Amino acid sequence: MSYKIRLFIICCVILITGAVGLAAVPIANEEIACDEAGLAQLLEQFSVSSDIPYEEALRALYDAALAYQRYAVNCGYIPDAVQLEALSEHTLGQMDIAMLLRALAVGQDVDAIIAELADMRGDPIRGQLLYNGLEPAIDGSVLSCVGCHNGVAAPALAGTWTRTVEVRLQDEALAGYDATRYLVESIVNPEAYVVSNYMGGLMPPFYGEKLDMQMLADLLAYLESQDQPIEGD
Ligand code: HEC
Repeated sequence: MSYKIRLFIICCVILITGAVGLAAVPIANEEIACDEAGLAQLLEQFSVSSDIPYEEALRALYDAALAYQRYAVNCGYIPDAVQLEALSEHTLGQMDIAMLLRALAVGQDVDAIIAELADMRGDPIRGQLLYNGLEPAIDGSVLSCVGCHNGVAAPALAGTWTRTVEVRLQDEALAGYDATRYLVESIVNPEAYVVSNYMGGLMPPFYGEKLDMQMLADLLAYLESQDQPIEGD
């Protein structure tokens, strides 16, 4: 497993437990010395007994991950690759990664997604990397958007934004939609509206399980930058 994925797993522990409202949990060890003994003491906290319920184990791991993060910042400590590997291996042994991914993923509830997007800013450059499979999705897989969206199998990437505003949104079937709603729905629930002249059932229905909110915001920012004049449909 790569360094990035390991770091990602450890960060997930922080994210998911933060997401379930534990961010305010006080840290058990306020005072940890910036020395080897302090670090050893900290690492011990990553050992969660298998007898305790899953929620409690997550909470304990969250405490440990947060304390580790604080130690790194306060003590100017940069963990090496071996240490990260050991920690992520250990973390994976103690939690259900499928549940973790489900908690991180945007899902298919378009209204809820749009409400969350309102406070976010997407990065079109990262969106481009995701779109082209150069940056992995949350489950480590590659998004193959670029493989289909060539104007033959699926509508061309170039002009996506222009087409959305000038063509798609004029369709009565999309009354009440704005461009963001249309694009979000196209990604997380492609069957809801099938573009004429293209085949339904082709675009994978699972992107809501593979993207977190930031990734979706980044993809949308990238699609928004596709405001070229439109060719074809
Ligand atoms: C296996 C092929 C395939 C893949 C992979 C795919 N799509 Fe699509 N997509 C389609 C097809 C076919 C359509 C048109 C039919 C429809 O509306 O479902 C479409 C429609 C769309 C639309 C609406 C475009 C328009 O002009 O109205 C958007 C936006 C979109 N896809 C985004 C994406 C993104 C983002 C990804 C990657 C995360 C992706 N697609 C991956 C096949 C694909």
